[in-house]
Amino acid sequence: MELFKGAYEGAVTATSYAEILLAKAIKEHGADCPVKYPDTAYRLPVITALSGEEVNTIGDLAPILNRIRTTNIREGLTFENAKLNGEATLYAAEVIEALRYLKGVKPDKFPYCGFIADPILRKFGVPLVDQTIPGVAVIVGKGKDSKSTAKLVKDLQSKGIMIFLCNEVIEQCIEENVKIGADFITFPLGNFTQVIHAVNFAFRAGLAFGGIPAGQRERAIEYQGKRVLAFVVQLGPNDIVKFAAEFGAIFMGFPIVTDQPVAEEIPDWYQSEPDYEKIGKLGLEMRGIKIKIVDIPVPITIGPAFEGETIRKKDAHVEFGGGRSTSFELVRMCEADEVEDGKIQVIGPEIDEMPEGSVFPLGVMVDVYGRKMQEDFEGVLERRIHYFVNYGEGLWHVAQRNMMWVRIGKNAKELGFKIKDIGEILIAKFKSDYPAIIDRVQVTLVTDKDVIEEKIKLAIAKYSARDARLKGLTDEAVETWYTCTLCQSFAPNHVCIVTPEHVGLCGAVSWLDAKASNEITPTGPNQPVTKGDCIDPVKGQWQNLNEFFYSGSNRTIEKVNFYTMMEDPMTSCGCFEAIMAILPLCNGVMLTTREHTGDTPCGMTFSALAGTCGGGVQTPGFMGMGRRYLCSAKFIPADGGLARVVWMPKELKEFLGQDLIDAAVAAGLGADFVDKIADETVGTDEEAILPFLEEKQHPAITMDPMM
Ligand code: SF4
Ligand code: NI
Ligand code: NI
Repeated sequence: MELFKGAYEGAVTATSYAEILLAKAIKEHGADCPVKYPDTAYRLPVITALSGEEVNTIGDLAPILNRIRTTNIREGLTFENAKLNGEATLYAAEVIEALRYLKGVKPDKFPYCGFIADPILRKFGVPLVDQTIPGVAVIVGKGKDSKSTAKLVKDLQSKGIMIFLCNEVIEQCIEENVKIGADFITFPLGNFTQVIHAVNFAFRAGLAFGGIPAGQRERAIEYQGKRVLAFVVQLGPNDIVKFAAEFGAIFMGFPIVTDQPVAEEIPDWYQSEPDYEKIGKLGLEMRGIKIKIVDIPVPITIGPAFEGETIRKKDAHVEFGGGRSTSFELVRMCEADEVEDGKIQVIGPEIDEMPEGSVFPLGVMVDVYGRKMQEDFEGVLERRIHYFVNYGEGLWHVAQRNMMWVRIGKNAKELGFKIKDIGEILIAKFKSDYPAIIDRVQVTLVTDKDVIEEKIKLAIAKYSARDARLKGLTDEAVETWYTCTLCQSFAPNHVCIVTPEHVGLCGAVSWLDAKASNEITPTGPNQPVTKGDCIDPVKGQWQNLNEFFYSGSNRTIEKVNFYTMMEDPMTSCGCFEAIMAILPLCNGVMLTTREHTGDTPCGMTFSALAGTCGGGVQTPGFMGMGRRYLCSAKFIPADGGLARVVWMPKELKEFLGQDLIDAAVAAGLGADFVDKIADETVGTDEEAILPFLEEKQHPAITMDPMM
């Protein structure tokens, strides 16, 4: 069979080529020359996942390449052998690519992204598990023409698919103004062997979220097959090396669709589809990816790919709020007869009456009625406005409540987007995402400068009532806490317990979110649990919760303490926003975030630290967390709480701002406590920050020893 023959010959060519490049690199730089990808805890992930060798220098690569050649390259033309040849090709590609990263220097030039660092993988943890991103497409080669190639990519973007591009398709997308880059969940990897960065990204999901130890080949492959819903689109002419690489993908469980004729297709694994309109659909079907279609009658594309898009002032047709005009957003629970389902009303000028570059007020009022709706869910739903509006290509939304700031881009205006269409998006998304609690929705959009001053009073009153209610929501005040097992699709043994004072470690699931989600899907990932008998009130251990953990973690976790990180702490899945670690010398803890790539006083970067803790295991002394948990009165109380925090990146201090100061005051630490916390400007090792802590009389210095 042509395909199997290609895979064999391609594997021989690829491994030989890798050997030549390796020999040349060793000759030039010496076998001791270090080789590593930037900002990852998993070295060369293909090798780490499949065989587990620790690669530090280029000299380490030679025996690995030799071995894979001997064990995997098989001449017999069978499907099994083709997959082994494919595996060898993945090794060869990883070696060739790694040789571009000698001494840790990132060689990729715009627009190519090359190796994708761990924090980006972790950032996409939640959208992948909650299926905002329902699958992954790797699109390789050169499409028959730019227009139809761009259309294929855009269509997958609108379905929320994460996309990796390699070779000429990247230029074709750029030519057609397709938005690409990490902000658009569309990664332009580069050319040729750079496609391996999609593969090593996928393997890291198993290592980081699945908790699969290095070198467990069978488990690593099983994980890919079961949990990473990826497929490959090969456009344009194939050659033997491409065939071999494609069988590398099939070895991982990812099917191939090509626009080229294929003499003998392999059903479910290798199929031909010359019609570009059908390629995406076939790939999704072959990989079993289900897309929830929501038809929204607006002239712009809607999808999570556009959430990260920024619209600069000069590209905006009109903007609202952001301190330049009055703005607010409000979700209200109403009675059945107060809501006319689907009604959209614009009070004030429409977009055609707004000159280019102008500023107008905007009030977004969403009235919902539902038999199972509760007032408590208003805030949860209101927060979704941010995402739903941002999903629009050419729409930009930041902040919330009466701080809301919105821009509508010039191209959205040119496509015919109207203010009214904001209502169309909100109604469609609310009804499709929350069918169990929303039966009717109507949206009122206020752009009139007099009417808005009237309406905003309603909103302000609502916000303060809600805040008062939230203040009273403590761990003790409620009977039930909620579990979250959403991340089990990637971290099979991981369980989060979400309490009023402890947001999920992804930062995206609060107690109210969990409560609402349980109302929507009673059998879903958020289950109510009552604490049961208290085993340890200080460390925070309860009988029922232990039992839930035991069954929920597939019998791997027997007990959990909620109020300490030092003994049987909560587990981490991998998508945590921040991570904390003890600093023995300073008698305190430090935190670092996904956003902070630099070194930290525990001697590890965020990525390295994250690599030591995840996959649903307990790691005393380390814990993943949502950033806001730091401001909670229940922040590791058994360990001394906020007073223990001696270091965090500046960025986190700025992000939490006044909330962190308020939390310090509430904890009796004083408003100047935040200034006593060291950051990277003070130092990035314990010796360097200790004198600072002493000088500032940081409370941790004189507290009881942590361990
Ligand atoms: Fe995952 Fe925990 Fe967030 Fe749920 S709360 S999505 S399990 S990290
Ligand atoms: Ni947007
Ligand atoms: Ni997670």
